[in-house]
Formats: sequence, structure tokens, C-alpha cells
Amino acid sequence: MPTEEHFQPQIVAFCCRHCAYSAADLAGSTRLSYPTSIKIVELPCTGRADVLHMVRALEDGADGVLVAGCLPGTCHYIKGNLHARQRVDYVRDLVAQIGLDRERVRMVNVSAAMGGRFAELATEFVETVEKLGPNPAGGGRRGATLELGIPGEQVGASAPTPHVHHPEVKA
Ligand code: FES
Repeated sequence: MPTEEHFQPQIVAFCCRHCAYSAADLAGSTRLSYPTSIKIVELPCTGRADVLHMVRALEDGADGVLVAGCLPGTCHYIKGNLHARQRVDYVRDLVAQIGLDRERVRMVNVSAAMGGRFAELATEFVETVEKLGPNPAGGGRRGATLELGIPGEQVGASAPTPHVHHPEVKA
């Protein structure tokens, strides 16, 4: 009897370098596992996560988009994480209008010291998306295209090129 292939959601995580990116590194270095299907894109602040970045990730075949920023009141650019939250809410509404589940897009907040919490939140998100199944709007583009993440030029000329990070520890 043929076995059904296990669906492993492909997730793009836009992570602020001051908190979530460091927390992801901490999780890796302390051997706290989170799913390897999460591709981390490092941003100088989640305030740089544009609506287009999130939509493009889904168009390019991601099954879910996570935006991970600093804790409320600790954004290095004052309101970057608040603006990101508004954009995430906007994208959640937008995807719902085209028939996707809004749970495919989520924002979380962590500090750089919260490696364990990051691993927990990332795993929870993957489990949520796993239940939703493959992204029907991805046009079967899961895989190779997603490895490239989001084109650097869309982040803006003044921002550093996003860095795609692969977790070191397998779940
Ligand atoms: Fe981390 Fe703004 S500096 S979200």
C-alpha cells in the first residue's frame, strides 16, 4: 500500500536582526529545535517587511509567512514593529479575500534572549500551516524558487540585502 508523503510546510520568516534573528541563532546554538522548513530572511527591522514581500512569498510558493519582531516598546526604530503588525493584519485580510486562510500569515514578538520561545512560536506556526495544507495560491512553486527567498531589491536600496538563514538543528 503506497504511503502518503508527509506535508512539510515551507515557511518564510521575516526576522528582525535585533531580536528574532538572534533568537533563532540562539535556539540553534543551544540545540533547541524548530522545523528546518523555515527559511529566515534577516531584516534590519520588521518595519522593513512590506506587504509586497509577504504577498510575493505566498505567490512564490511559501505555505506560510511569519514576521518576527522585537517585543512591544523595544523596537530600535521606535514603531517599526507596530507598523509591521498593521501590515501583517492587512495581509491577513487580503489573503482572506482571495480565499486563503488568514492563519497562513502571522506576526510574533520576541527578544534576542528568547531562543526557546522563538523555537516554540516557529514550531506552533508550522503546525498551524501543516493543518491548513499546501498553499493553493502557490501555483505548485514550492521548493527551488522558495530557496531564493525574497528578491533583495524589493527590500529597498538603503537596506542591507536580506540574508536567508537555515536552522542548524533539525526537528
Ligand atoms: Fe526589531 Fe524594529 S528593530 S522590530
